[in-house]
Amino acid sequence: MTPQIAPDDILSVQNISKRFDVSEPFLNRLIERRPRRILTAVNDISFDVPRGKTFAVVGESGCGKSTVARLLMGLHTPSAGAIRFEGTDITHMPPGNPPELRHRMQMIFQDPYASLNPRWRVRDIIGEPLKNFGICKTRAEVTREVEKLLSQVGLNPADAKKFPHEFSGGQRQRLSIARALTTRPELLICDEPTSALDVSVQSQILNLMKDLQDEFNMSYIFISHDLAVVWYMADVLAVMYLGKIVEVGPKEQIFENPQHPYTRLLMETVPKLTVGGTERTPVAGEVPNPISPPPGCSFHPRCPLANDTCRSVAPALHLRAGGQKSACHAADEGRLPTWLRLAAE
Ligand SMILES: Nc1ncnc2c1ncn2[C@@H]1O[C@H](COP(=O)(O)OP(=O)(O)OP(=O)(O)O)[C@@H](O)[C@H]1O
Ligand code: SF4
Ligand SMILES: [Mg+2]
Repeated sequence: MTPQIAPDDILSVQNISKRFDVSEPFLNRLIERRPRRILTAVNDISFDVPRGKTFAVVGESGCGKSTVARLLMGLHTPSAGAIRFEGTDITHMPPGNPPELRHRMQMIFQDPYASLNPRWRVRDIIGEPLKNFGICKTRAEVTREVEKLLSQVGLNPADAKKFPHEFSGGQRQRLSIARALTTRPELLICDEPTSALDVSVQSQILNLMKDLQDEFNMSYIFISHDLAVVWYMADVLAVMYLGKIVEVGPKEQIFENPQHPYTRLLMETVPKLTVGGTERTPVAGEVPNPISPPPGCSFHPRCPLANDTCRSVAPALHLRAGGQKSACHAADEGRLPTWLRLAAE
C-alpha cells in the first residue's frame, strides 16, 4: 500500500539514503588489492515539510545538506528510500520530468553567479523558462512577466537588458530568486542562498524571501550552516550530523531546550543570534570520515557524554517532552545535563 502524505505536508521523505562509490579505478584496486570505497553522504533520513512553512536544515560542512537538496530535485538518484511531493512518488523522476510536477519545485543555489548564464541577458535568463514551460505565449507576454518578476524581487524592470556581471552579489541572488519564481513554485529549495553575501545584503535577501513566501504561500526547504540565519527563517528545524538527522522539531523547542549534545555544542558556537553578525568557532574535534564512520553513535568521538552504549549502538530518533525528536542515548536515559554548557572547561 502506498503511504499517504498528510494533507498539511507538501513533501514527505522516507528513509532516504545516498551512497557514492568513491573507489579508485578497477585496475588500481586490483593491483593494490584495495576494496571498493563507499561514502554514505545521506544515511536513512525521514522528514516532512509542512505546507507554507520553512523546514530548515543545519549542520557542519560535509554533513550531507546539499546532497539532500539534490536528491529532492532529482539531481541525484537515491540509493534507498522514497520522496513524495503532494502524495506523488517522485523518487526516481529525472529533473524537469514530468515538467508540470517539477515546475512546482525550484532550487536556489549558494553561488548566484555560477547558476546564471554569464552570456545571457537577464530578459533571456528569466524569459527562457517562461517560454519553455509555455507560461507565456507571446514575446510581449514574456517581456511583461520578466519586468513584473524583476519588480517583485526589488530590481528595476530596466535591468532586463543587462548581463549578470553588471549586478552586485545581492542583486544576482535576487535574479536567481526571480528565475526560480517563473514557474510559480509551491516548494523552493534554498541551498545556503545567502552565505556568499555581506551581512547587510544577507538580511535584505532573507526579508525578501520571507515576503515572497507570504505573498505566494510557498513552502521552503532552507539549508544553512548558520544558526542565526536558521533562527530567523525556520519554522521546523532539522540538525544533521554525518548524513543523519540527529534532532528535528519546532524551531523554538530546539533552540530553547536542545535534546542532542551536538545541537547544544552548535549553539554554544553562536555567541549572539543576529543574522550574520558574529564570528563562529567550530565545534571542537574532527568530523569523522563518512567512508568509515565510527560505530554506534557517529558523534561519540566528540561527545562529552559518550559511554560504552554510545560507542556500540546507534541511537534512534525518539520524541522528547518539548515536542522535538532527537537520537541520543543520554536523552533516552535521562542523563542529558539540564545546563546548556557541555564542552570540557
Ligand atoms: N558527487 C559526489 N561524489 C562523491 N562524494 C560526494 C559527492 N557529493 C557529495 N559528496 C560527499 O558527500 C558528503 C556530503 O556532501 P554535501 O555537499 O552534501 O555536504 P554539505 O553539508 O552540503 O557541505 P557544505 O556545508 O560544505 O556545503 C561529503 O563528504 C562530500 O564529500
Ligand atoms: S548517543 Fe551518546 S555519544 Fe551520541 S550524542 Fe548521545 S550521549 Fe553523545
Ligand atoms: Mg552544501
